[in-house]
Amino acid sequence: MSVSNTLPNSIPFLDLVTPHVELEQELTGVFRKALHTGGFIGGPMVEEFEKAFAAFCKTTCSVAVSSGTDALRFALMACGVKAGDVVVTVPHTFIATTEAISQAGALPEFVDIDERTYNMSPERLQEFLEQCKKDKSGKLISHRSGRPVTAIVPVHLYGQIADMDAILKLAEKYGLAVIEDACQAHGAEYFSRKHNRWMKAGSMGRAAAFSFYPGKNLGACGEAGAATTNDNCVADKMKMLRDHGQAKKYYHDVEGYNGRLDAIQAGLLHAKLTHLAKWNAQRRERAAEYNRLFAAADEAVVSPFEPSWSRAVYHLYVIRADDRDGLMNHLKKVGIGTGIHYPIPLHLQKAYATMAYSQGDFPVAEKAAAEIVSLPMFPQLTAEQQARVVEEILNFSFRFARKHVEAEAASLAAADRTA
Ligand SMILES: Cc1ncc(COP(=O)(O)O)c(C=O)c1O
Repeated sequence: MSVSNTLPNSIPFLDLVTPHVELEQELTGVFRKALHTGGFIGGPMVEEFEKAFAAFCKTTCSVAVSSGTDALRFALMACGVKAGDVVVTVPHTFIATTEAISQAGALPEFVDIDERTYNMSPERLQEFLEQCKKDKSGKLISHRSGRPVTAIVPVHLYGQIADMDAILKLAEKYGLAVIEDACQAHGAEYFSRKHNRWMKAGSMGRAAAFSFYPGKNLGACGEAGAATTNDNCVADKMKMLRDHGQAKKYYHDVEGYNGRLDAIQAGLLHAKLTHLAKWNAQRRERAAEYNRLFAAADEAVVSPFEPSWSRAVYHLYVIRADDRDGLMNHLKKVGIGTGIHYPIPLHLQKAYATMAYSQGDFPVAEKAAAEIVSLPMFPQLTAEQQARVVEEILNFSFRFARKHVEAEAASLAAADRTA
């Protein structure tokens, strides 16, 4: 992924400078406050940010931690996931999703994604759960590993919430905890047919994890994350886990971790949080503009699909193209930054070779990984820049299609001559 490009007239994949320079006064004020109070760990800046982020997510609690990976690990552990359990998730995500599951002591097992939303397919999840058996004590046992299945982690990829009504219904039927990986979905909304209202990412599962990695819709100036929940007991456990297993200083109920969020990062995030709704709205406008420009291009590219029950926040704007690698090369040459999120599905990663999955196990995720490309997407992206991105893509796609037709015509002519 190229974040910025030095060619004249280049369009970066992501602009991390402009929003920070725009807020320079506010952000440096946070540093000054920390320097003058010496409050670097915990304290009011962390607590105030937690309150504000919980309110933003429409949850009762948020627990600020040092990364999204830690947020997911603590959320899983606080929801009762134990060593030896199976947690069901998707192969089309960043490896942090499964790292957190493994770090909680559990084994990730996969179900395929939906072809259009790239999120967990409720149908594939149902198939997986139907193949599991209950043991004598009523535990659900994975048909794949023979271990107890205790939780599901849907990932709200690219800023769009997975079909939570269907996933939560299955979780309830099989007695499983749902922990949302909302690391890319700050502020995304989902219309719950069950509750007949729009709900925010992070407010629907037993707990949820957010990442504030700098490039996220809400990004820190370093590493940071938060877990949200409506369950006070889960929140208290997560608070202990992030702080060496203590609720009271030096009284350790369990062994925990050093997973706290710095006060400076909390202050910076709090300042930026007040702009998040506006930035998300700008991302939605940018996505609508890309959609409008691509609509004229017939089937040259497949643009993102947003179901009627979704209000995505476009952490990434991902299209599919026939010759993805050729297209990326072309865009690089003309100074346009792109990325692939993600090129190898997790079940085919070397890190998981011992899980004995093979090519073809999750065909939808595999096909997506081969065809997707993420285009420049950030709130400050201009309409002119978008028009140029789309023009370059359509020029390339048109040339690709023409080459394809010419090659087919040549091979037909050759076949005619030899007949
Ligand atoms: C889907 C997903 N899950 C988890 C994470 C982990 O977050 P962090 O990098 O803050 O640990 C990320 C961050 O990139 C992510 O995109």
